[in-house]
Amino acid sequence: MQTWVPFIPESASTESPHVDALYFYLSGVTIFFTLLIAGVVTFFVIRYRRRTPYEIPRPIAGSHTLETVWSVIPFIIAMTFFVWGTGLYFRNYRPPENALEVYVVGKQWMWKFQHTTGQREINELHVPVGRKIKLVMTTEDVIHDLFIPAFRIKADVVPGKYTYEWFEATKPGRYHLFCAEYCGMNHSGMGGWVVVMEPTEFDNWLSGNAGAQSASTSGQQLFQTLGCASCHGNNGEGGRGPALLSVYNSEVQLESGAKVRADDSYIRESVLNPQAKIVAGYGPIMPTFQGVVNEEQIVQLMAYIKSLSSQPAGASGAPGAQGSPKAPGRETQK
Ligand code: CUA
Repeated sequence: MQTWVPFIPESASTESPHVDALYFYLSGVTIFFTLLIAGVVTFFVIRYRRRTPYEIPRPIAGSHTLETVWSVIPFIIAMTFFVWGTGLYFRNYRPPENALEVYVVGKQWMWKFQHTTGQREINELHVPVGRKIKLVMTTEDVIHDLFIPAFRIKADVVPGKYTYEWFEATKPGRYHLFCAEYCGMNHSGMGGWVVVMEPTEFDNWLSGNAGAQSASTSGQQLFQTLGCASCHGNNGEGGRGPALLSVYNSEVQLESGAKVRADDSYIRESVLNPQAKIVAGYGPIMPTFQGVVNEEQIVQLMAYIKSLSSQPAGASGAPGAQGSPKAPGRETQK
């Protein structure tokens, strides 16, 4: 679409025609009023030019009608930008529930991607065409920004929290991705490619790279080696830490009386700064894992904790079902 405009990037996601439409509408309105005002100024300059050196202009008393019209019409036009833009924003920044998740960690100066099935990539991201993909993003150092022009998506990647982007690619191909936030010396080189493949081709690619274990299995191993399991039994064994089964995305009652949703950011905070939000009924005894685990390992722990919530209650913690390349994602999650 819009290949007649040479500087517009390729359009390859379900949302990009909507972003383009708003953009062209804004440009169209701007061009129309620029030409209108320039035209009227030119016309008036000529029509009402001074004709004799001592000419005195006719006094003008003002017009309420005119002033109302030129206030109300621009207001209505500005509100169309606002309403249209807000609708688009809400859709583009609220990832759909059934999306395939990919973890993204920015780092000076590279992009690290990890699929829930374990495949890792650097500066390259393989995805299937026609599936909703949700990027769960954070950074190991400074602020970066993941920008994929062909999909019309762009979002900051911020230390200490998770941000999200989503897209559904509409045609196979290779699309440039960029870092769009100045992040130091080699910022300009912090780019790469999104490779959009046919679903069967993507399945082949996944199984061709299946040497890696799934993110949740890596997380489970970390959970054992770090000794988490001695306090956080799946069903509350150990007794010193809250049970983790089905905790993901549930409402948690805190010691302080407040309630919090156990989302990605809460889990991350609880690993790095355990005293911040203590679950009701437990003591402040958990040590911090700041400096012990890196961002990628936190993502794996998170994948493990999520996998505990995507199984029927009472099942053991083995996240084997997450390891199948055919069924990644959280479709079965409650
Ligand atoms: Cu990372 Cu600019």
